[in-house]
Amino acid sequence: MKLIFVKDVAAHLGEEVTLRGWVRNIRHSGKLLFIILRDGTGELQCVAFQPELGEEMFDAAKRLTMESSLIVTGIPKPHQKLAGTFELSVKSVKSIQIAEEYPIGKKEHGPDFLLSNRHLWIRSPKQWAVLRIRHTVYYAICDWLNNNDFIRFDSPILTPNACEGSTTLFELEYFDEGKAYLSQSGQLYLETGIMSLGRVYDFGPVFRAERSKTRKHLTEFWMMDAEAAFVEHAESMQIQEDLIRYVIRDVLAKCDTELTILERDKAALEAADAPFKIMTHREAIDYLRSKGSEITHGSDLGAADEVLLTEGSPVPIFIEKWPKEIKAFYMKRDPDNPDLVLGSDLIAPDGFGEIIGGSQREDDHDLLLERMKAEKMPLEDYQWFLDLRKYGSVPHSGFGVGLERLVAWMSGTHHIRETIPFPRMIYRIYP
Ligand code: 4AD
Ligand code: MG
Repeated sequence: MKLIFVKDVAAHLGEEVTLRGWVRNIRHSGKLLFIILRDGTGELQCVAFQPELGEEMFDAAKRLTMESSLIVTGIPKPHQKLAGTFELSVKSVKSIQIAEEYPIGKKEHGPDFLLSNRHLWIRSPKQWAVLRIRHTVYYAICDWLNNNDFIRFDSPILTPNACEGSTTLFELEYFDEGKAYLSQSGQLYLETGIMSLGRVYDFGPVFRAERSKTRKHLTEFWMMDAEAAFVEHAESMQIQEDLIRYVIRDVLAKCDTELTILERDKAALEAADAPFKIMTHREAIDYLRSKGSEITHGSDLGAADEVLLTEGSPVPIFIEKWPKEIKAFYMKRDPDNPDLVLGSDLIAPDGFGEIIGGSQREDDHDLLLERMKAEKMPLEDYQWFLDLRKYGSVPHSGFGVGLERLVAWMSGTHHIRETIPFPRMIYRIYP
C-alpha cells in the first residue's frame, strides 16, 4: 500500500496509491459515485464505479456523508474535464467514521454562528487557505530575519510592567509578588537582548485589553518584535520595507492556490513589492485635510484616515515623526524638533491599516527618565530598562509586526478574526 498526500498525486499517475482524509462533498448518479476528498494538503475528486468496487463496497461508500473520514485506494489519472488537474479512479473505499449531519452547509451562515463553530469552520476552503497563508507569512518573517543576522530572543509573557501604556493591560495575581501583566509587546526585553546579541527578535502571542470592536483588533494576537543595535530611524524603516517585500514575494511564490481560492488580487500584491512611501505625520495630516478630513495636527489616525491616506497607493506608506504626546515613552525625540519623536507606523494599502509600529529608542538616560516621570510611570519597575542607558548605551531601533494584520492584507481577508485559528475578542472567548 503506497500512502500519499493529495498534493503529490501528479507524481503517481497510473500507480495504485492510498489516501486518507475527509469527504468534502459526495454525490452519486447511477453506478457512479463522486467523492471530493480533502486531506489537509489539497482536494481530489475520487470516482468510484460500482462494477469495480462490487455492490457491497459501493453501497457502503454511498453511505458516506459530508466530513466523514475515510481511506481510499485507487489510480490517479488526468481529470476528464479539467485540464491540468487529476482525479482518482477508485478501487476501494473504507470509511473510518460516518459524520453526523454537518452543521456548516452550503447556505450562508452569519459570522456569529461561524465563530461559535470555529473548531469546524477552519475546515472550509477559505479558512484553510488563510491559515496556510498565515503559516507562510510566519516562516517568511523568520527566514528573512534569520538570513539578516537577527537572533531569536524569546521575551516573557508574564511581566511586571507595561510596554505600551497601562490602559490595555490584562492583570493577574502573581503569588506573593503582587500583580503581573500579560505582555503587550516584548520590545523592552528585546532592548536588553541587543546589548548581548546585536540584533534580536521575538515572535509570539501578546495581549491587549482593548475595548475596540473593530475588524482590526484582537485581544490576543501575535507580534514579531525586532530590535537592532546601532540602527537609526531611517535604516530601521529600510529594514521593515525589505522584510515586508520579502514576505510579499514569498506569499506570491508559495500560495498561488490559496490566493486563488480567496480571490485575492495578485497583481495588487505584486505592485506592493516596490519602494514604500514615507510621509511625516504633519504631511499626512495636511494631505488628509486637503482631501476633506477634519483631522487635526495633534491627532492619531483613525481607520477612515488610513483608508483615505492609502487610496490609490499600490505600496504601503510609512508615517513618521509623530507628536510625542500620542506616542510611547520610549521613542527618541527628533533632534530637529523636540516635540516630535522618531517613530513610524507602516500603513498597508486598501484599508488593511497599520501593520507595523516602530521607532528609534531614546538612548539617553536622563531624557528617558524625564519622559517616564512626565508620564507618571512607576519608576521602580523599570530600573532594569533604565540600566541599559547606563552601561554602554547605543543608538538603536526596533519595530513590531502584527502578524494577523499582515496576514489579513496578504490574503485579502476583511476581518482579522479569520487570520488566527481561535480569535480572542472582547465578546468572544469560545471555543
Ligand atoms: O504599534 P504597536 O502597539 O507597537 C508596539 O507594541 C511596539 N512595542 C512594537 C515594537 O516596537 N517592538 O503594535 C505593533 C503592531 C501594530 O502595528 C499592529 O499591526 C499590531 O501590532 N497590533 C494589533 N493587532 C491586532 N490586534 C490589536 N489589538 C493590535 N494592536 C496592535
Ligand atoms: Mg501602533
